[in-house]
Amino acid sequence: MRRVQQTSASQLSVLIQHAKKTFPSEAIKEQFLEVIDLYPDIIARDILIEVAEELDRLVALRSLKEMIYEWFATIVIQNRRRAFGLKESEHSYHMIFCGNPGTGKTTVARLMGRLFHALGVLSRGHLVEVERADLVGEYIGHTAQRTRELIRRAEGGILFIDEAYALTRGGEKDFGREAIDTLVKSMEDLRHRFILILAGYETEMNMFLRTNPGLPSRFPIILTFPDYQLEELLDIAERMSEVQEYRLDRSARIKLSEILRQEIQTGTRPFSNARFVRNVVERAIRRHAVRTVKSPALSRETLMTLKAEDFSAES
Ligand SMILES: Nc1ncnc2c1ncn2[C@@H]1O[C@H](COP(=O)(O)OP(=O)(O)OP(=O)(O)O)[C@@H](O)[C@H]1O
Ligand SMILES: [Mg+2]
Repeated sequence: MRRVQQTSASQLSVLIQHAKKTFPSEAIKEQFLEVIDLYPDIIARDILIEVAEELDRLVALRSLKEMIYEWFATIVIQNRRRAFGLKESEHSYHMIFCGNPGTGKTTVARLMGRLFHALGVLSRGHLVEVERADLVGEYIGHTAQRTRELIRRAEGGILFIDEAYALTRGGEKDFGREAIDTLVKSMEDLRHRFILILAGYETEMNMFLRTNPGLPSRFPIILTFPDYQLEELLDIAERMSEVQEYRLDRSARIKLSEILRQEIQTGTRPFSNARFVRNVVERAIRRHAVRTVKSPALSRETLMTLKAEDFSAES
C-alpha cells in the first residue's frame, strides 16, 4: 500500500520522497539522538528525546516514522541555515490523515505537535481535536464564527478535524461548506500560526478531496494509516501491557491472537485496530484483578501476569 502520496509538487514532499530512499533503519530513536547530540544549541532537547522514545514505542508505521524524521532533519537544517543568513524554504505542514479507527491518527498528531513545538515551528504545540458538530452552526454566519473561534484556540498548535469528510455531507446548501471556506482562508492568512489536519476513512477522504477541487493543492501531505496486521496488534497489546507493568504469558498471547483473528474476520466493520486491543487489554486487567484478588500471598509474578482466562472479546 502506498502510504505517502503527493498531491502537489511542493518542495517539502519532493524532499521527503527523496530522503525516504536513504533512511537507514527501523531505529528512529537512535537517528534522533545522533542529531540531537550534534546540535548542542537545540533548546528543547528533553522534549525531543521524549518524542523520539514515544515514536520508537509505536508499533509498525514505518513510513510515517521516516517522514517524521525527515521533517525533523529539515527543520534542524532550516534553523541552521537561518543562523547563516540563508534563505528558508517555504513549507506547508497542513495534512490529511487517512485511516480506519484506532490506527494511530490522534496519537501521531499529538506527537507531531510536540515535535514542531520543540523545534520552534509551533509556539505551543497543543492539539485541538474537533468534529463536524463542533464547527457547524445553526444559521448563516454562525459556522464561520464557530470555526474561527476553534482556529483561534488552535493557534500555535494543531487543529485536528476528525471525520472531516462529514463537512460536505449535506451538499451545496449545507453549512459544512462555510466551515471549509473559513478553514481554507485561515490556512493562508495564518499559515505559520497553526497546522490543520483533516482526518477520516480513506475512501471518504478521497471523495471529499475530489468534490472540493481547491483542496488537494492546499494539502501537500496525505498520510495513510494502514490497518495493523495480526502480529502488529499482538505487539501493540504487549507494549500496552508493558507500560502498565503487566505481561502476557504464552496462553494469553494465543488466546488474544484467536480473539483478534475472529474480530478481524467476522467482527463488525470497520475493525477498530489498536483501540480494540486497548479495550481488550483493559478488560483483561480487570478480570485479572477479579481472578487474583482473593488469593493469599500474591507474588509479584502473579500480580504482573495476564493469562488466557483474563481475555475475552466482549468488553
Ligand atoms: N502503532 C501503535 N503502537 C502502539 N499503540 C498504538 C499504535 N497505534 C495506536 N495505538 C494506541 O491505540 C489507541 C488508539 O489510537 P488513536 O486514538 O491514535 O487512533 P485513531 O486513529 O485516532 O482512532 P480514531 O479514529 O478512533 O480516533 C491509543 O491508545 C494509542 O496509543
Ligand atoms: Mg482519533
